Amino acid sequence: MNVHESEKIAGILSKLGYGEAAEGEDADVVVFNTCCIRDNAERKAAGHIGMIKTEKKKNPSMIVAVVGCMTQQSGKAMALREKFPFIDIVLGTSNLAMLETYIPQVAASREKFVDIDENERPEVRENESFYRTSGTNAWLNIMYGCNNFCTYCIVPYVRGRERSRTKEAIKDEFMRLVDEGYPEITLLGQNVNSYGKDLYDGEYGFADLLEELAKTDGKRRIRFMTSHPKDFNRKLIDVIAEYPNICNNIHLPVQSGSNKILKLMNRHYTREYYLDTIAAIREKLPDCGITTDLMVGFPYEEESDFLDTMDIVEKVRYSNAFTFVYSMRNGTPAASMPQVDPEVAKDRIMRLIAKQNSITKELSKGYENKVFEVLCEDLSPSKTGFVCGRTDSGRLVTFPGDENLIGKFCDVRITRSQSASLFGETEV
Ligand code: 5AD
Ligand code: SF4
Repeated sequence: MNVHESEKIAGILSKLGYGEAAEGEDADVVVFNTCCIRDNAERKAAGHIGMIKTEKKKNPSMIVAVVGCMTQQSGKAMALREKFPFIDIVLGTSNLAMLETYIPQVAASREKFVDIDENERPEVRENESFYRTSGTNAWLNIMYGCNNFCTYCIVPYVRGRERSRTKEAIKDEFMRLVDEGYPEITLLGQNVNSYGKDLYDGEYGFADLLEELAKTDGKRRIRFMTSHPKDFNRKLIDVIAEYPNICNNIHLPVQSGSNKILKLMNRHYTREYYLDTIAAIREKLPDCGITTDLMVGFPYEEESDFLDTMDIVEKVRYSNAFTFVYSMRNGTPAASMPQVDPEVAKDRIMRLIAKQNSITKELSKGYENKVFEVLCEDLSPSKTGFVCGRTDSGRLVTFPGDENLIGKFCDVRITRSQSASLFGETEV
């Protein structure tokens, strides 16, 4: 989501006539696209903003803007301006497009702007310009915001309520991306499974949208994220099974394996319900790569709750998991619950990571000596003469090749695996 939003920012800048500054080159405009999902994301953003102070001293005409989730928290925009008086523009999450107006004004008059739209249902903007930087994959927003209010999460407060784009607008953008030749398109939403609820009254949902998009082209890959387990339904599994161009790759964040913790988190499902969904996916999509988000150290988490999380990880055998230590976010319900000792949380996250790593390693072994269709995405960042790309199930593979392969589908035999990394050779 953030990467795609940065593409929107770059799109606005390029419309204004700016180009990308090379690494180390003096920039005329610096935009910080911030995140506040966890405390370390906020600290990182503040650190980067602080570091620009000396640059700005050297080059006072530089325009500095701060946008994204961090600024949308109550009182944060003013606090940022006070702490970093050199900031020229502060914008919230829903009025990013105002950069186009404010940047020329700052350039002309050095006026400063703070503009945070407090509306929880800001209008969905269409006709945005993008400066796509993601290579073979194009991101496509199908909806914005979130209605779920998981008790640990700041997103609903900084991104507002769910707003779906119309199916026509999505189909138009999808077809444009197809025409531009993108071999992979990823549909984005905080909870894609509740797509359309605000527009179509249950008559048209995510599975319908996905099916319509899948029908338009045979070869292209379609991915989507993120799915909330409470809304993930069987109809969607059927659609994924029917259309080979929808990738067998599902990100289904479980957060915790303990029913007590899931309830406290306001997740609206139990471990049993979640495991049933996994069984239904595995039955129809046996090769599906399932990934997840896991959290440890949530308030009231005891050793037995943590062991339930370890157990669900063992049962599901995720191809990859994003693991987080719970981070207290001001204004969320969990912030006023009793907090777990950070040392205990640290110990749990280490054990969880070790467990997931050993599962990933075992699953990687299972890929060896098999052939997979891989979409070549880029040159390998670490090995010259090699390229990398993903299997349909989302696993990254490194194999010999050059830039001519980028954007092409290749049949690759996996010859070797090393923990999470797969290495292969193209089949001739
Ligand atoms: N602390 C730690 N992790 C969090 N996430 C969301 N909010 C928090 C928080 N306060 C994690 C969840 C979510 C992912 C995007 O970030 O696991 O799925
Ligand atoms: Fe946050 Fe929960 Fe919404 Fe995901 S579903 S964005 S975790 S509130």
